[in-house]
Amino acid sequence: MHTIDEVRARLDDVRASGRTVGFVPTMGALHDGHRMLMETASNNNDVAVMSIFVNPLQFAPDEDLQNYPRMVDRDAEMAEEAGIDCAFVPADGEMYPVENWTTISVRVVTEPWEGVSRPSHFAGVATVVTKLFNIVGPCRAYFGEKDYQQLAMLRRMARDLNQPIDVIGLPTIRETDGLAMSSRNLRLTPDHRLQAPVVARALRLGIDTIEAGERNPAAVEAVIREELATAPGADAPDYVAVVDANSLRVPEVLHGELRVLTAVRFGDVRLIDNMGTTVDP
Ligand code: PAJ
Repeated sequence: MHTIDEVRARLDDVRASGRTVGFVPTMGALHDGHRMLMETASNNNDVAVMSIFVNPLQFAPDEDLQNYPRMVDRDAEMAEEAGIDCAFVPADGEMYPVENWTTISVRVVTEPWEGVSRPSHFAGVATVVTKLFNIVGPCRAYFGEKDYQQLAMLRRMARDLNQPIDVIGLPTIRETDGLAMSSRNLRLTPDHRLQAPVVARALRLGIDTIEAGERNPAAVEAVIREELATAPGADAPDYVAVVDANSLRVPEVLHGELRVLTAVRFGDVRLIDNMGTTVDP
């Protein structure tokens, strides 16, 4: 489906007959991470919808909007295999027929980490996801923990704005060597692809260190940084964060639900990843 009217008509009918809608927003170039979200949406709802839209609002001028991989036919095939009943693939002009004057911006949870490296990114995501929620209507919406700060923002946005959406987060799907699946992995050089699993390895070491009893976030951060530094192709990380899983703030002493997060560049490809654990309060 290419138009908002078609999607609304179809899903209004679905809800009118008492059936549930599951929704998976994506930017395409689908991989097994997206597949898992689509299969879950399909298994847990009567009708499963996904969208493919490379949203210009969430890319800064120097980012990879033009190079973002586009492979709509292959994506449509994977979506169908995963049980998707309706794929919404709007043109730019359908989503932004006039200059966009309205921005949704979520404070606090978007300010550190990715928010420092990509200042306008999260408002671009919050705005397009709100538009998509308004188009799809009341539903369960599925997002990956891979983009943990995005997920935390969208949960808070839906709550703050009373959006009639159940925001559901699902675990990160990884390659067998640990690298978190991402459409950006396709752009790594062969040499960088070999080194990239260092990101997951470093985060895993951080989690192991917490689980072994370390309660000082700076000590855990140091372990992660040291492991990342073993990869010659990796730039110094944009950030390494050991945070409370809900506020995304660094606590003085580690306790409760925690998350370790990092962003590392290999050449011109910027990879993000994170992992979680819970320790006794
Ligand atoms: P995109 O990067 O295409 O991701 C779509 C969804 O797939 C997001 O919820 C993301 O967290 C999830 N995802 C990506 N890689 C994953 C992995 N390895 N395991 C599990 N889930 C994974 O995120 C976006 O698009 C956009 O910002 C969007 C929300 C669509 C708004 O434009």
